[in-house]
Amino acid sequence: MHARVAAATTTALIGGTVLVGGTTSILPTPHARAGSPDGGVVIVAHRGASAYAPENTLASIDKAAAMGFDWVENDVQRTKDGKLVVLHDATLARTTDVEKVYPRRAPWKVKDFTAAEIARLDAGSWSGRRYAGTRVPTLLQYMRRVSHNHQKLLLEIKNPDLYPGIERETLELLSNEGWLDPEHLRHRLVVQSFSARSVRTVHDLRPGITTAFLGKPSYARLREYARFADLINPDSASLTSGYVSTVHAFKGPHGRPMGVFAWTVDDPDAARRLAGYGVDGVITNKPDVVRSALQES
Ligand code: G3P
Ligand code: CA
Repeated sequence: MHARVAAATTTALIGGTVLVGGTTSILPTPHARAGSPDGGVVIVAHRGASAYAPENTLASIDKAAAMGFDWVENDVQRTKDGKLVVLHDATLARTTDVEKVYPRRAPWKVKDFTAAEIARLDAGSWSGRRYAGTRVPTLLQYMRRVSHNHQKLLLEIKNPDLYPGIERETLELLSNEGWLDPEHLRHRLVVQSFSARSVRTVHDLRPGITTAFLGKPSYARLREYARFADLINPDSASLTSGYVSTVHAFKGPHGRPMGVFAWTVDDPDAARRLAGYGVDGVITNKPDVVRSALQES
């Protein structure tokens, strides 16, 4: 019902070499969607399976894997000494015990702490006693666990204006970990940001990467976004069927119809409504709830 053309021959510049041909399976093909019990909508575990384990930790992606979900989303920021870490907020206060460990360091901004200082923090107790001692992962630790779990990653560059150069550094780490090879680019990686400038920078640095803009550009500006973003990922509350169809009518930088992943959808009725709009993906803290809802529809 929600099938659309999503695969096409591509020509992409990857790591200084030209890759010609091939298709992507980041968006399921119409055939795969028709044959899938959940309509082929990609279900992304937001900050990991974050309704059930502390967000943006190795525990949260292990939980998603244990529940049978391969796509996970995270947020990447940078420490005072230049290490990339996986954290959502610009401060450490909500998701760690930083106020207890470093009481004189308010307002506890991520960028004011070294990686060694952050490594001391407990990033799990706030979410439940069983997660006491869980650490904030570095991006390197996180990528190794995603690889170990055979998962796929929707990586968000968070607050890029606070961290000049974070796009290049992130891509360098991904490249070193083998995540910019053709197989990962075609099947396993999307890089997104609320900052159009940051998404454009990622596209310019490595045009082979599938990119997403977080937000809902006006109809008039979609053509401009289609030059550097393969996906438009809006807040689900503001989404309409007409907007989804309009995005689908544009071709992104790789010559394929643009896609739409909606966030953050934990309600079964909302998940079914969005699937009815034809979204390609749903980003959720409760991937099990969304899967059940889509399988029932
Ligand atoms: O992936 C979509 C979602 O992560 C965007 O919002 O604030 O949870 O990063 P936020
Ligand atoms: Ca995010």
